Order: sequence, then C-alpha cells, then structure tokens
Amino acid sequence: MVHRPITAREVVMRALLITPGTASGLSLGDTLDPVPAANEVLVDVEHVSLNYGEIGFARAPEAERGAVHGWDAAGVVARAAADGSGPAVGSRVVTFGGGGAWAQLRAVPVGELAVVPDDVSLAVASAVPVAGVTALRALRRSGPLLGRRVLVTGASGGVGRFAVQLAARGGAHVVAVSGRGAGLAELGAHEVVSSLDDVGPLDVVIDNVGGPQLVRAWELLEPGGVVQSIGWTSGEPAVFQPYSTVGPAKSLTAFQMGSDLSADLEYLTSLIAAGALTVDIGWRGSWLRYDEAAEALLGREVTGKAVLDVE
Ligand SMILES: NC(=O)c1ccc[n+]([C@@H]2O[C@H](COP(=O)([O-])OP(=O)(O)OC[C@H]3O[C@@H](n4cnc5c(N)ncnc54)[C@H](OP(=O)(O)O)[C@@H]3O)[C@@H](O)[C@H]2O)c1
Repeated sequence: MVHRPITAREVVMRALLITPGTASGLSLGDTLDPVPAANEVLVDVEHVSLNYGEIGFARAPEAERGAVHGWDAAGVVARAAADGSGPAVGSRVVTFGGGGAWAQLRAVPVGELAVVPDDVSLAVASAVPVAGVTALRALRRSGPLLGRRVLVTGASGGVGRFAVQLAARGGAHVVAVSGRGAGLAELGAHEVVSSLDDVGPLDVVIDNVGGPQLVRAWELLEPGGVVQSIGWTSGEPAVFQPYSTVGPAKSLTAFQMGSDLSADLEYLTSLIAAGALTVDIGWRGSWLRYDEAAEALLGREVTGKAVLDVE
C-alpha cells in the first residue's frame, strides 16, 4: 500500500458497512473519511481481523445501517494526533475500537493502539486485539495460575488459542476442550479433550461456548474456583440441576473485555516478537471476500483467526 498525505479533496473511502438484509450483514461501499479527534491518530489500514461476536452483531436488529463495522485493525499512522500524544506518522500500529476498523482509514484514540515490533507482521498484529486481550484479561481476573487447573472451552478459536498459550505461560495445567483439537498440545495444552466426561476437578474455566459445557464445567469447579463466562458460541441454553449452585463458595462471573487496550496490546505483541506467543491465522484473503470469511468463522471452519487484507 502506498502511503500519502490525506488532502481535503480525498474525503471518501471504501469500507465494510453495516447493511441489513445481506448474508453477512455487511457490504463494501463508500463512506466519508473519518475525522480524528485531538487525541486520535488517523491510520492507513492494511489488515483487519474478524471476531465471532462482531459478525453476529452486524446482523442484529439494533446495528446501525451504514456504520463502518469492525473492532480490530493494523496499519500505518497517516496523521499523528493533534494533541501531540501517541505515535508519529509512519509508525506501524495495531488498533482497537467499537467500530470503524474495517475501512481504508481509521481514526483511533492513542489509548487504544500499540506500536507493532519490527519483526511482527501487521497481518499477525491485526489478529490480536479482541481475542488476545480478552484471553489475557480473563486469565488475570481469575487470580494466580501457577499449578492451577484451567479449562478453556472453544479452544480452537480466536480467544481459545490465546487463552491456552497464556494460561500455560502463567504456570497452569491447561485442559483444552475442542471439537477439533488442532495443534492445541503444541500451544501448551496438557490435556486436549472433545468432551468434559473424563475431565478432573477445575480451578478456573475460560468459557467461550456456554450451554451444556458450561453446566458441566460448573459441576467440575472446585470450591474457590471461578468460571469466566466470555461467550456462548453453542447457542444452547444452560440447564443447572437443582441445588447445583448451592454449597461451598465458587463463582460464575460475566466477562466484558473493556477498553484502554494499549498496554495489553504492547505486552501481547512483545510476546509474539519474542516467539513466546503464536498467532494462528486459519483464514486469510482480500477484504473483497468478507462474506466468505464471515461464513467460515460462523461455520466453525477457522482455526484461530480470520484476517482480511485491505486493498
Ligand atoms: N465478553 C467479551 O468481552 C468477549 C470478547 C471476545 C469474544 N467474546 C465471545 O467469545 C466467544 C468466542 O469468540 P472467538 O472470537 O474466539 O470465536 P471463534 O474464533 O469463532 O471461536 C469459537 C470457538 O467456539 C467453538 N464453537 C463454535 N461453535 C460451536 C458450537 N456450536 N458448539 C460448541 N462449540 C462451538 C469452536 O471451538 P472448537 O472447534 O475448538 O470446539 C470455535 O472455534 C464468542 O461467543 C464471542 O462473541 C466475548
């Protein structure tokens, strides 16, 4: 991609826009260039990644028609923040925000980005924000991990693969539950299972799947343990047996990843640069193929992350 100064005449860009009635809830169209606030940089986007949640949200009734969709993007700073904070023009950055990512240009607050180390590609960096920070924060919220038994459900997916690696790095005994299992032992899982039938007691559960797996994980949770309820890809209800929530204290807690990602993005990309964290990109292609990528992700065909190259 050629990086050039933005001029007053260049006010229209291409972007993936919320479009009700289409298969993915998206279409590629023209929209006005974003106008950065004083604390925002303007980024020339090169790669974006898809998350399960935002694909679902694009098709939700409350999604705003015509809005630029997407949370994760990586690219090069085309204009620095007017207040003097953040990286200079030409810096390679990974960015996060609740919308605005899947476009040729993105305005993003300096608190929601990190400069990408030289030896990490922007395609890899674009896969990190939502999935990587969710895994990191959910594990941190679960207390010390050294020697504890941590279960990760939906382990082949975006959040799951980061969680397996980070929990192992934190010293946990990691049990990965996955319908596919692909490469999870290599990422540090001590046990890879396809059901929870023969799993032992657990201290922490990072749950991406919900439904019956969540119920079973709760039954296996030790006193003092915690379930972080991150997602519900099973789409199935969770039916708890009478009195299964009564007894020695343990908790099931709702999880939301939050904001102010800079420090966590810097940490995760530094691990990648050091070879201590692997990012698996299971689907990659031009953003013209966004429908195909979304279908593959929702169809459970992507191992790790799906990344689109912005043209
Ligand atoms: N609360 C938050 O702030 C937050 C942040 C990020 C993500 N999330 C949520 O967390 C969940 C995971 O996100 P993600 O980006 O990692 O998604 P993903 O990459 O699509 O991975 C989800 C994984 O769930 C499993 N799965 C999918 N469909 C399933 C089904 N019908 N039954 C059982 N397992 C199924 C699959 O794992 P296996 O093939 O290995 O079984 C799949 O790889 C989503 O619900 C997402 O919305 C929430």
